[in-house]
Amino acid sequence: MNNEKGDILVTGGLGFIGSHTVVELQNEGFKVVIIDNLSNSKIEVLESIATITGIKPEFVKLDLKDKKKIQDFFNNRKIEGVIHFAASKAVGESVEQPLKYYENNISTLVYLLQEMEKNNTNNFIFSSSCTVYGQADELPITENAPIKPAESPYGNTKQIGEEIIKDTTKVSNLQAIALRYFNPIGAHESVIIGELPLGVPQNLIPFVTQTAAGIREELSVFGDDYPTPDGTAVRDYIHVVDLAKAHIAALKRLIAGNNKKKMEFFNVGTGKGSSVLEVITAFEKVSDRKLNYKIVGRREGDITSAYADTSLANNELGWKSTLTLEDALLSAWNWQEKQK
Ligand code: WQD
Repeated sequence: MNNEKGDILVTGGLGFIGSHTVVELQNEGFKVVIIDNLSNSKIEVLESIATITGIKPEFVKLDLKDKKKIQDFFNNRKIEGVIHFAASKAVGESVEQPLKYYENNISTLVYLLQEMEKNNTNNFIFSSSCTVYGQADELPITENAPIKPAESPYGNTKQIGEEIIKDTTKVSNLQAIALRYFNPIGAHESVIIGELPLGVPQNLIPFVTQTAAGIREELSVFGDDYPTPDGTAVRDYIHVVDLAKAHIAALKRLIAGNNKKKMEFFNVGTGKGSSVLEVITAFEKVSDRKLNYKIVGRREGDITSAYADTSLANNELGWKSTLTLEDALLSAWNWQEKQK
């Protein structure tokens, strides 16, 4: 068993990436406790996780903005490690409501780290993002690529979050790994958990699947005048299950004390870039549906191209993505078809 020394706390564990990570943690024998405020997730996901793994994680409904509640949570508990997903993540919304994002993504991180320090919980995995690189000068992007001024308050909260953690590791027993996600997509093979975007999807894949399902009229492709082979923007789309497994590898590294620095950073992607039109073509192939789309102007703040150099995660974490773009798109479509 992996939990002789304590439970693993997953904040935001009922969310898209969080729930898939809880499943993989339980598959690896970890005992999991989830904190979630249900602001962007559904309580039904808890049963869904139990259906997949046969183990119902402990769940505590709690908003990390409530410092006192976090203190109460940590009292008389042994938490071996924390994987921190709980945060607001909509780029566009963050531009309209910056203070909501700084409060929800930064204050909560500080409160959580303060309680972890008091309780001698020292293993921390942080949900970061390739967004910290902005438009990188060189592709594929390595972890040494310069951190560029953030294009949005959301991206800024990821940059600031990394700095807060790094500063804390310098003066405490905290050791941390920031995983810089590229574009998470897809759903668990069981089709019992997946992405549940609230309202009109901001991200490409949920919009694609909702269009194919007839929920949306047509997909707008944001620009075909980028300096890319087919003119549409390029991203590194990683299957959410591969992404979840990277968290397990990172957590095991810290628990085993195999980390080489108090804070480490790893890009988590496939290493392969796909354009919007390539995604559409691949989706039409796996779903056997013709996708209704039109080309429109660029979206404010979008970058041309981002895909990961994953050699550090491959060599140091012993982790590599195994699922393809088609696997991810098919799983996303299967998940969409199951939604009522
Ligand atoms: C992908 C591509 C769009 C919608 C953001 C955040 C990142 C992470 C993932 C949270 C782009 C194009 C999209 C549409 C389109 N955030 N697109 N029509 O912007 O790469 O990354 O979401 O986890 O941190 O920065 O992802 O899915 O929004 O866009 O043409 O209706 O699809 O222009 O090229 P993005 P995305």
